[in-house]
Amino acid sequence: MIGIDIVDLADPLLKKRKTSDLRFITTGSDFESTTISPSFRFWIYWAIKEATYKASAAKDRFDPRKICINTFHSISKDVWSVSCKFDNCMFSGQAKLTAEYISAVMYVGEKSLPAIHQFFPLKSGQSGKEVRARLKAYAKKELQLTEVIIADPVAGQRPVMRASNNQVIQVSITHHHHWGGFAIIPAANPEIL
Ligand SMILES: CC(C)(COP(=O)(O)OP(=O)(O)OC[C@H]1O[C@@H](n2cnc3c(N)ncnc32)[C@H](O)[C@@H]1OP(=O)(O)O)[C@@H](O)C(=O)NCCC(=O)NCCS
Repeated sequence: MIGIDIVDLADPLLKKRKTSDLRFITTGSDFESTTISPSFRFWIYWAIKEATYKASAAKDRFDPRKICINTFHSISKDVWSVSCKFDNCMFSGQAKLTAEYISAVMYVGEKSLPAIHQFFPLKSGQSGKEVRARLKAYAKKELQLTEVIIADPVAGQRPVMRASNNQVIQVSITHHHHWGGFAIIPAANPEIL
C-alpha cells in the first residue's frame, strides 16, 4: 500500500516547533538528524509518520510514537530517502522540503518504488473534492483508465480507485490548508479483483 502526506508551511495555525517538541512524536530509537532545523525536523518527521500510517493496514488511531524512522539519508538538497518500521512491517519512501510545503510518500516494503505522485496548490475551499478531481483527471489522461471511481473514505478508511475493468488501484490522498496531493501505486503492481 501507499501513503502520502503534505504540510503547508503557510498555514497560520502551524505551530513553530522546538527540539524538545520532538519528544511528542519520536520513539527514542528514531534516526537522529541534526542537520535540519528543529522546526522543519518536527514537521518532516510528522509527514513521514503520517504517510507511513496511511500506507499501513493499521486500524488504531494514528500515533507517531509507534512509528520508528530507521534511516533518513539526504539524496539531494532537501530531499531524503527514508525507511520506517511500524506494526512489524518495513516501509520505504521519500520526504521533501520546499519553500511552500513538506511532503512524504511511503510504501510498504524495503525498496522504494518509482512513485506516481503529485502535489499542487488548491484553488477551492473543497480540498477533498478538488484532490479527487485531480486524481481522476490524471488517471484518465495518463493511465488511460476510463470510468474511474474514487471511493469516498467511510470513517477513516483508505481511499481506493476503481476503474471500469474492475481494476482496483491503491491510492493515497492528502490536503492541508492551500496544498493537496495524491499518490498511486505504480501500474506495474495493480491489484485485479
Ligand atoms: C488518516 C489520518 C492520519 C490523516 O490525517 P491528516 O494528515 O490530518 O489529513 P490528510 O489530508 O493528510 O489525509 C486525509 C486523507 O487521508 C485518507 N485517509 C483517511 N483515513 C485513512 C486511513 N486510515 N488510512 C489511509 N488514508 C486515510 C483520506 O483520503 C483523507 O482524505 P479526505 O479527508 O478527503 O477523505 C487521520 O485522519 C487519522 O488519524 N485518522 C485516524 C483514523 C482512525 O482514527 N481510525 C480509527 C478507527 S477505530
